[in-house]
Amino acid sequence: MRIILTGGAGYIGSHTAAVLVERGHEVIILDNFVNAERDVPARLKSLTGREITIIEADIRSTEAVTAALQAHRVDAVIHFAALKAVGESEADPLLYYDINIIGTIRLLQSMQAAGIGRIVFSSSATVYGQPDSSPILENAPTRVENIYGRTKLVMEDLIRDLARVGKLKAAANLRYFNPVGAHPSALIGETPRGVPNNLMPYVTQVATGERPYLNVFGKDYPTRDGTGERDYIHVMDLAVAHAMALEHICGNDVSVTVNLGTGHGTTVLELVKAFETVTGKTIPVSIAPRRAGDVASYYADPALAQRLFGWKATLNLEDMCRDSWRWQAKRAGINDV
Ligand code: NAD
Ligand code: WQD
Repeated sequence: MRIILTGGAGYIGSHTAAVLVERGHEVIILDNFVNAERDVPARLKSLTGREITIIEADIRSTEAVTAALQAHRVDAVIHFAALKAVGESEADPLLYYDINIIGTIRLLQSMQAAGIGRIVFSSSATVYGQPDSSPILENAPTRVENIYGRTKLVMEDLIRDLARVGKLKAAANLRYFNPVGAHPSALIGETPRGVPNNLMPYVTQVATGERPYLNVFGKDYPTRDGTGERDYIHVMDLAVAHAMALEHICGNDVSVTVNLGTGHGTTVLELVKAFETVTGKTIPVSIAPRRAGDVASYYADPALAQRLFGWKATLNLEDMCRDSWRWQAKRAGINDV
């Protein structure tokens, strides 16, 4: 298939691009590079051996996006482009409504104008908010707890509505749990702006010496060791899931909402320990107060993805730590990995 990846130069998009090319699909990236490095296309080329077409555009530019969809006669869209920082969304709600919600509406209008009716969408486990229990099934209640989460839920609803009334032929809302890791080549990975919000990038920056220690946000949660529990998923497993979901919905013209996680919870201290074991690095920690808005524990029930399109995570916590470290170490110019 020929597929446009909005936000395809970003973290998850670039890994998905690599996997799609490997599976024989043709990939076109549409990105405005607001949160992506300019040399990602070149790195993808050295990884895949293929020239990937790049369209520099904003998803809200209906004219440019429609023209791109028509010119390349694409079969489907994978929609990664969005802003994703919870704190920033609470500080600037209109920015998030604009880029995430209006951007998605504009994209869907462009798709309709170009006659493209198949989409895979980057949703998030954040739509579950504080879950009643884990593992979380897709039919668990959705509870929005911040503006970023609200935009994800609205975008999911827009896509589900269009599918329900037949304006989309096929759609997948993919609810990612906590993506970490990098391509094993260390040619692509995650590059957070400024101080990382997320745990794994912070840990890798402590390991390179860029930050002195990790603040562990809360040690009084009702979990095994009192620290927050999450379902970390390797970005390569996530990338493969996109390809399989896409092939499934396009092959059957169906619409699905699916969790993408491993089904296993890992606490902050368990992740730190696994990282230390895999890398031989010491991660000093300091126990800090709970972070506002954090949930004690959640992990996926990922069985639906396996039932529908045969996907199951294959990489474990050690793989996630190893590949995250390899990527960050390379960027920091450390050659012992
Ligand atoms: P990312 O920021 O690395 O990638 C997003 C890409 O979209 C970037 O390349 C950015 O330049 C581009 N972009 C942003 N606004 C744009 C616009 N208006 N027009 C065109 N391009 C634009 O983020 P990511 O981690 O790869 O996340 C991809 C998607 O997955 C996002 O929708 C995010 O909300 C969702 N998601 C991410 C996580 C996570 O923890 N990383 C978890 C769940 C869901
Ligand atoms: C994981 C655990 C922290 C940093 C966020 C978004 C969510 C999704 C993924 C997009 C928690 C603890 C963290 C640190 C710590 N994004 N932690 N010290 O909060 O589960 O999810 O990213 O959709 O919407 O909310 O991920 O990596 O920030 O935190 O102790 O310096 O690590 O308290 O228990 P989170 P995270």
